[in-house]
Amino acid sequence: MIHTITSSQQAMELEDRYGAHNYHPLPVVLQKGAGVFLWDVEGKRYYDFLSAYSAVNQGHCHPSIVAAIKKQAEKLTLTSRAFYNDVLGTYEKYITEYFNYQKVLPMNTGVEAVETAIKICRKWAYEEKGIPHNKAEIIVCEQNFHGRTTTVISFSSDPDACQNFGPYTPGFIKIPYNDLEALSSALKNPHVAGFLVEPIQGEAGVNVPDQGYLREAASLCSKSQVLFVADEVQTGIARTGKMLACDYEEVRPDILILGKALSGGTYPVSAVLADDEVMKVMQPGQHGSTFGGNPVAAKVAMAALDVVKDENLAANAASMGTLFRDRMNMLVDKSELVTQVRGKGLLNALIINDKPESDTAWEICLALKDNGLLAKPTHGNIIRFAPPLVLTEEQLLDCCSIIEQTINEIANPN
Ligand SMILES: Cc1ncc(COP(=O)(O)O)c(C=O)c1O
Repeated sequence: MIHTITSSQQAMELEDRYGAHNYHPLPVVLQKGAGVFLWDVEGKRYYDFLSAYSAVNQGHCHPSIVAAIKKQAEKLTLTSRAFYNDVLGTYEKYITEYFNYQKVLPMNTGVEAVETAIKICRKWAYEEKGIPHNKAEIIVCEQNFHGRTTTVISFSSDPDACQNFGPYTPGFIKIPYNDLEALSSALKNPHVAGFLVEPIQGEAGVNVPDQGYLREAASLCSKSQVLFVADEVQTGIARTGKMLACDYEEVRPDILILGKALSGGTYPVSAVLADDEVMKVMQPGQHGSTFGGNPVAAKVAMAALDVVKDENLAANAASMGTLFRDRMNMLVDKSELVTQVRGKGLLNALIINDKPESDTAWEICLALKDNGLLAKPTHGNIIRFAPPLVLTEEQLLDCCSIIEQTINEIANPN
């Protein structure tokens, strides 16, 4: 029997009883979304300040993306790559032109795209760079977040993500983030094939590297014949105020990884982009996925990317982000509870003045929820704020007032 949900309580009880406890959600049960808003089962409206971890950049249930899904779902949903379909080629042309690469390899989730990039990088190392068999190394950064597969958590520094999931996949060298000296010294190893990096570390708490870091890192990689691999799953597709966060430093990654907002949060769609000299290492039978590049995903991605350009979402993210940080900096000056606001475009975080292991950020998020705004703490006492990029100035100012009022309530309880 299929259960009909009539209250938030009931929905939470069902998840608690029948679902694995691998998440700790905020106690809110959402039923409907439109643009920057979400509604719970009882009909209360919230501003979404998480956007499903930056997947819903185009806003919830964007009409043209939903229309693309519906139309294609009624015609053809999946053929697998055993056969051609009449949408994939059009999409491949569209996305490669959109991001200025020669080839794309379509996948579904972000972590699958990361795994794909690792495989391409290793194969390129053996077949093009001439690294001895099974000796390739990929440099990664401490506090990275690239997803949850066994290989990807093998190079995580977060104990929750990796403890008791060993044995781990070898072949990764971890260096501090935003540290060019460490990169330079790691690159002396002739077996290095690639440098996998997030242009801003989102999950780690919106760690923005120094200006010039990405450009210099890419240049060091190029001098050492090492592939610069950018994971823009969270930062890409206008989130940080440019189409890609790498665009701020005019860096063109050798391998670009995208996911999340590639579908506007309607469907799992990810992609790896590279030029022929790198992508040519992938030959039939060497990689793939039943659902990767399916016609629904292809149509959805084109609709979602159209929206980003048609609605100038990068420019809006840039200007709304500046306004947000200006207002939050006033809060930092006034309130002892908030020590810093940092970020780029509409990927921002507030740093809460308490021990990293305290519950203060969680309590603030609960109070924000009561006041009509949904956000989630990320590592330690850090709250990430990442609303859909369709947010208007009026909505942004309203949200800033909600955040200020909530911080005041928590700082001065009575
Ligand atoms: C930078 C980055 N890479 C990869 C991933 C993994 O994406 P997915 O959860 O779709 O596998 C995420 C998810 O948050 C991410 O932020």
